[in-house]
Formats: sequence, structure tokens, C-alpha cells
Amino acid sequence: MAKLPILTAPDARLKQRAKPVDKVDDRVRKLMDDMLETMYAAPGIGLAAPQVGVLERVIVIDVAREDEEPQPLRLANPEILWQSEELATYDEGCLSIPDHYAEVVRPKQVRVRYLDQDNEIRELETDGLLATCIQHEIDHLDGTLFVDHLSALKRNMILRKLAKARKSEQLPAYAAVS
Ligand code: NI
Repeated sequence: MAKLPILTAPDARLKQRAKPVDKVDDRVRKLMDDMLETMYAAPGIGLAAPQVGVLERVIVIDVAREDEEPQPLRLANPEILWQSEELATYDEGCLSIPDHYAEVVRPKQVRVRYLDQDNEIRELETDGLLATCIQHEIDHLDGTLFVDHLSALKRNMILRKLAKARKSEQLPAYAAVS
């Protein structure tokens, strides 16, 4: 497995729509494994392929708590078949928008169809953190970030702070003392 670099906003690749995979073969399985390694190292609970610069509809998730056994999920071509009218609010973050969090309202339960790591069609109905995480990651496949669910005011504030932080990181070391 290999750890991959994670793109951060405003990288244009994060705003594009990803293409479905034809089938889950060895290449896609390796992508899934590399994405899981990248996600665990970050650390994060979900990662979508566009976040590592691959514009394909592949996501990985593990919402197990630290004291639980890992529960890695590998999903290709995930599709939301049904979502509840009932909503839930979670404080969301994103590895592509480091250090910023905001409350996002989404359907509380979803039913999802996807291809698993063996190219088998599966369905999963879930709620709570996993339902939120699946929706967050599927959003990435359509070029949507969690900040796109916020008011323009909040979104711009976060993106401006992010751009500022990125700029200061790129300044040469001597700038700090000049
Ligand atoms: Ni994200």
C-alpha cells in the first residue's frame, strides 16, 4: 500500500465530477487500499478518490471509534437510493479543508447501492455518523465540499482563512523574522 498526497481547496480537481469505474479490479482495489492507508494516516474517517487527484467514483470510510476494531468500507460507484425526510446535524470537517469545521444538516438515514472490493453489488441502509460520512464522501464525487452546504458568508470565511494559512505556509523561512 502507499500513502497518497491529499489535495486541499481550492484545487480545481475537487470541484469536478468523477467518472464511474467499469469494474472493481486489481487496479481499483489497490486504489481503495492506498486511500484507506492515506485516510488512517491523516487521520480521517472518510476519503474520496478526487481528494487524491483520481477522478473516479471510489470512496473509503471507517467510522469505528479508537477503542473499536477497524471497520473499513470500500465503495465504488455509490448511489443514494433513498434518504429520510428526517434530518441530522453533524459538525463536519474535511481532509481537503484542514482545521475547519462547521455544522451541516443532511438526511439522517440513507440507503446506498455500491460495488464492494469484490465487484459485488451491495446495499447498505444506515444512519448516524456513517450516513453523514457516506453523503459527505459521495458529495466529493460530484465536486461538492461540505462548505458548499453553508451560507456564502460562512463558506467564504472558511475558504479565505484556508487561503491565508496556505500562503503563510509557503512563505520562505526568513520571512518570519523580517
Ligand atoms: Ni471531505
